[in-house]
Amino acid sequence: MTDRPVLHRSPHLHGAYAPVTEEVTAFDLPVTGSLPPELDGRYLRNGPNPMGLDDPGHWFLGAGMVHGLRLRDGRAEWYRNRWVRSREVAGALGEPWPAGPVHAGMDFAANTHVVAHAGRTLATVEAGPLPYELTAELETVGPCDFGGTLPGGFAAHTKPDRLTGDLHAVAYFWGWDHVQHVVIGPDGTVTGTTDVPVTDGPMMHDFALTERYVVLFDLPVTFSMDAAAAGSQLPYTWNPSHQARVGLLPREGAVREARWFEVDPCWVFHTLNAHDDGDRVVVDLCRYDGAYDMTVLTEQGTLTLERWTIDPAAGRVTRQVLDDRPQEFPRVDERVVSRPHRYGYSAVTAELDRTTVRMDGSFRDDAFAGALLKHDLSAGTVEAHRFPRDAVVGEGVFAPSAPDAAEDDGYVMAFVHDPERGAADLVVLAAQDFAGPPVAVVHLPARIPLGFHGSWMPDP
Ligand SMILES: [Fe+2]
Repeated sequence: MTDRPVLHRSPHLHGAYAPVTEEVTAFDLPVTGSLPPELDGRYLRNGPNPMGLDDPGHWFLGAGMVHGLRLRDGRAEWYRNRWVRSREVAGALGEPWPAGPVHAGMDFAANTHVVAHAGRTLATVEAGPLPYELTAELETVGPCDFGGTLPGGFAAHTKPDRLTGDLHAVAYFWGWDHVQHVVIGPDGTVTGTTDVPVTDGPMMHDFALTERYVVLFDLPVTFSMDAAAAGSQLPYTWNPSHQARVGLLPREGAVREARWFEVDPCWVFHTLNAHDDGDRVVVDLCRYDGAYDMTVLTEQGTLTLERWTIDPAAGRVTRQVLDDRPQEFPRVDERVVSRPHRYGYSAVTAELDRTTVRMDGSFRDDAFAGALLKHDLSAGTVEAHRFPRDAVVGEGVFAPSAPDAAEDDGYVMAFVHDPERGAADLVVLAAQDFAGPPVAVVHLPARIPLGFHGSWMPDP
């Protein structure tokens, strides 16, 4: 009986989530198939990896570890994994902390995303702390406040606008009476911030961008002083008295005030993309119906991929279900962020459901629906690339075959657990032969825990 309460309390320390204990550097990795030589760059992915056997209490709270591969000339040149050196992590590793700015006393080994902008590689996290800058080989440079130009904390999710070269973010922090839209210019400094008043301290994990608007999701998961006082390190709870609403904040103009539109209670972690459609705004997203319990993550309301159309003239939001199979980690070709998209990629990570985990860490037979999905939103079709038993797949990231290639002309890559080897592969799918065999599988020397988000960072 001794294992039962531990597994029940801490599913994020077991099975597909179990942290690794070593930092690995490996060169010239074995490849099955043929790595496309046009994939010249780095694929990096962040995720929680608590140190040692310490239990951070929630999946979202483990110290960030970035896993990365360097691809060049059809070869997998290296694999590395590195913890992000916050003060706490550096101390635990017996290293000096690469000191730098700290917002509101919140120093944290950013664990949610890793993005490239203006020559920097940034590990990012939300709810107050600053991002951490990494070298191209994943060593920690230090916390980043964009050369002293960022007034507060930052955000896990960002949106690049390829037309302007700007990077957009929406920061939230429990101590603020607003959320803050931040624009980082092509030179890597903050060129504008806009405070948008909110009540109750809502969690805003993601947002969307169109050519005219920043699309904000003010949903009923809000900061809870009671939960914080009770010692919760993730004090955000379902708040039925908080009106769910979606906001349109104009990107330009002398007076930048959000206009809000009420929606039914729901929760949204992630948007796929958004665009302007005449006077209306279209945003595709993954929506959980009804109440969402952040403390358990699983067994929540129905999860669907939806299209919301926000009609300012009519003052309402209409919803259309695009796909009713539960899926997460929606990603679009980043070159079409803020503009119309035809394709989207997402993951069916069945093992996110901890009810499918046995006491010994293995999974029930019905848990093996792991797949990457490709949506053709013009044709209304979905293709699935299914992975075998005990494989666990995370987010799929699109990499174009050339900078000016058409949307979907390229590859989708993801880390997938290989149960035969007990280690991870980087699986590279041709986006236009999505259900076919991978064009390349890079065999990594270590396991990679199921994590969060990453980016393809082509060499300039
Ligand atoms: Fe996310």
